[in-house]
Amino acid sequence: AAYEIGEHESFMHAEMLEQPRAAERVLRGRLDERFGTSHLGGLNLDARELRAIRRVKILGCGSAYYVGQMGASMIEELARIPADAEAASEFRYRDPVIEPDTLYVAVSQSGETIDTLLAVQEIRRKGGRVVGLVNVVGSAIARECDGGIYLHAGPEVAVASTKALTTMFLAFSLLALQLGRVRDLSIADGKRLIAGLQQLPEQIQSVLDRDDELAKVAERLAASDSLFFIGRVRGFPVAREGAQKFKEITYRHAEAYQTSELKHGPLALISEDVPTVALVPDDELVERNVAALHEIAARRGPLVVVTHEGVDLGDLSAAPGTHRIDVPRNEREIDPILLTIPLQVLAYHAAKHLGLDADKPRNLAKSVTVE
Ligand code: AGP
Repeated sequence: AAYEIGEHESFMHAEMLEQPRAAERVLRGRLDERFGTSHLGGLNLDARELRAIRRVKILGCGSAYYVGQMGASMIEELARIPADAEAASEFRYRDPVIEPDTLYVAVSQSGETIDTLLAVQEIRRKGGRVVGLVNVVGSAIARECDGGIYLHAGPEVAVASTKALTTMFLAFSLLALQLGRVRDLSIADGKRLIAGLQQLPEQIQSVLDRDDELAKVAERLAASDSLFFIGRVRGFPVAREGAQKFKEITYRHAEAYQTSELKHGPLALISEDVPTVALVPDDELVERNVAALHEIAARRGPLVVVTHEGVDLGDLSAAPGTHRIDVPRNEREIDPILLTIPLQVLAYHAAKHLGLDADKPRNLAKSVTVE
């Protein structure tokens, strides 16, 4: 392996615990507190070029795709430019229209994922501009892009991505900040976000410190063959990432769903044998989200609620099937990453409890370099 794991039981464990430091590294030297913006010299885009961007299209695979969805929300919210993420593995097969005023963003830890690389080549062949959010310096995707943001997560060895994903999220927040500040995002809002980003390493640490509590919850989840991860809007990509991590290393069937779509189908599957991990941040949707939890509890579905202190779960709090995990509050745009951290820890401990080696999940490779 590329580096020593020291006293840690596995690479995934070591990499999860390294996240506060990785977060510091990706932010270091890139925050401009005075003007409430970020410095991203590697993008090779000046203020005029940044202002000319009309749309952002993000491409990645697996977890990089899900964090791309988180990034798209942040860019829309802060810069008010239409932004969306797409699975890079599908992109080129639909002969996509490439627009000159769209900024394409390729996201990859390894920088070697073939589907993402081929998407980048497709964009460039058709005259588009693409920047990379890449961890491995000098990798194929980093070389093919017009510019980018290196993640500085350090080597990631475990198949299940943890610290790279966190740095991807933070790179998106730097990009969104800059796209916002050359438009209508106020300096006060820029400063508000910077203050939030600066608190993040410590807040991530405080979630990681609750390892014992999360291990107990994970043990309960590991007992089920099938589970749901649900969230809405900013919380939905978090649910997708949580389900992905759980599937990869526990081999349990974990399905992500929009909380709002439950009643349109999957509610039929809820029973005392099918737990739901619900993302319920204290945002504008909190009451609707809590109402959906009552629907699940009425069908005796066990609940793990990842939420914020002060969110009122009503009589669910006392229900024996409910476990609540409060994560620290940050700015609403940054909250998704703090909701993601406990889901990594849950997956990790569930795998461990099942006697599985989280570093070497069956059928999977760290990077997929052939189609
Ligand atoms: C993450 O836990 C997965 N192993 C996988 O989805 C991964 O994120 C994906 O294959 C993309 O890899 P990359 O970031 O190296 O391009």
